[in-house]
Amino acid sequence: MAKMWAGRTDGKTEKIADDFNSSIHFDSRMYRQDITGSMAHAAMLASKNIISPADADTLIAGLEQILSDLDSGVLAIDMECEDIHMFVEQVLTARLGDVGKKLHTARSRNDQVALDIRMYLREQVDQIVELTQNLIAAVTEKAEVYKDAIMPGYTHLQRAQPITFGHHLMAYAMMLLRDIQRLQDCRKRMNLSPIGCCALAGTTYDTDRHFEAEKLGFDGICMNSLDGVSDRDFCVEMMSDIAILMMHLSRFSEEIILWSSWEFKFVELSDAYTTGSSIMPQKKNPDMAELVRGKTGRVYGDLMALLTTLKGLPLAYNKDMQEDKEAIFDACDTVVMCLQVFTGMIATLTANTANMKLAAQKGFINATDLADYLVKKGLPFRSAYKISGQLVALCIQKNTVLEELPMEVYKDFSPLFEEDLYEAIDLMTCVQKRISEGGTSVASVEKQIKYVKELLTL
Ligand code: ARG
Repeated sequence: MAKMWAGRTDGKTEKIADDFNSSIHFDSRMYRQDITGSMAHAAMLASKNIISPADADTLIAGLEQILSDLDSGVLAIDMECEDIHMFVEQVLTARLGDVGKKLHTARSRNDQVALDIRMYLREQVDQIVELTQNLIAAVTEKAEVYKDAIMPGYTHLQRAQPITFGHHLMAYAMMLLRDIQRLQDCRKRMNLSPIGCCALAGTTYDTDRHFEAEKLGFDGICMNSLDGVSDRDFCVEMMSDIAILMMHLSRFSEEIILWSSWEFKFVELSDAYTTGSSIMPQKKNPDMAELVRGKTGRVYGDLMALLTTLKGLPLAYNKDMQEDKEAIFDACDTVVMCLQVFTGMIATLTANTANMKLAAQKGFINATDLADYLVKKGLPFRSAYKISGQLVALCIQKNTVLEELPMEVYKDFSPLFEEDLYEAIDLMTCVQKRISEGGTSVASVEKQIKYVKELLTL
């Protein structure tokens, strides 16, 4: 097929070379941004008398028509075209004749594609932020329900100290909150306009880059034309942010998978978010959580792929950079799906609070509180720690728990033990006494919930 860029060469290429070179099967999703950008470009050209106002009006009307024809399906994207930029220009020229050929004055596909990606991705950032907010809302709502449900808190996956399920959930709300902040921060650097950088060196036409930037909702312009067309930092940055977000979802997934096992039985997922086995009738599998965990690897791969593509690339545009889109689009599509599924899964899960409490009781997780009790009665911490440890060993030997040991036994270990001990090592007391800011007490969890809700205006 003869190319629009035919000139120095006859533009006749092998089919296999065309297929290899083409990006239309993935960049066609940016048609709206491409056309909107072109309309602003035509308006700028007219405002600077580079083309006539009449030509600009014709171009803008033609572009508007292409946009609505694509939206309605009247016009289909021609997958034989090299990319979306060529397709739009080709249709425009076919429809308008010579006027269509004026659109590409004072720009290049290099700044055009950079513009399109930025415009596309800033919308994606907004969508991902909104979906993350929805997930935080679901997590926070659950935390409210389970703000006094006692469970074991773990370190080394060994039962450590009693916490509430609400407190545990709110830890994830905090992580997700940071994810939103990171994405919003990334959006600021992304929202600068590269259009007008042209191929690499700027242009001899007296253009107005600020006019276009403003029209397209940018906060400013890229200040160096070489940088403007070679920069894909914003893609890498956004993918890093998405990778961290996926890492959080993956850690959460891992816990949900553990908690819904028979061994833990802490949570019950809704049937709507689980699957069965084709052979084992008893199975209820947490596939959604497993897939989110699995897809995290894929998103890390997208990030690594682009970092590696960009490594060592000389300035300015190189065709290698066409590889940016599949990676970033895949990362965006994946996180969008994961967030939606995850929100539904969290909103519909129920906690088995009786089992959580049982696990907490069997884990001697009040042993620290037992030691603290003796410290408050005047014993140095190290001595108290030792007695507490010996009592735990005794319980294990006798197959009992600290709450059930009779007072005579306690007295054998220290005369400081008195009846108020049982109250002090009661699990709810242990939780409620952790009133330090950010701790697990119900009041503290309520404060965290309030903080998140206010921040997100939930
Ligand atoms: N399809 C190309 C891309 O995605 C557009 C830019 C092409 N520029 C060029 N000089 N060949 O990167």
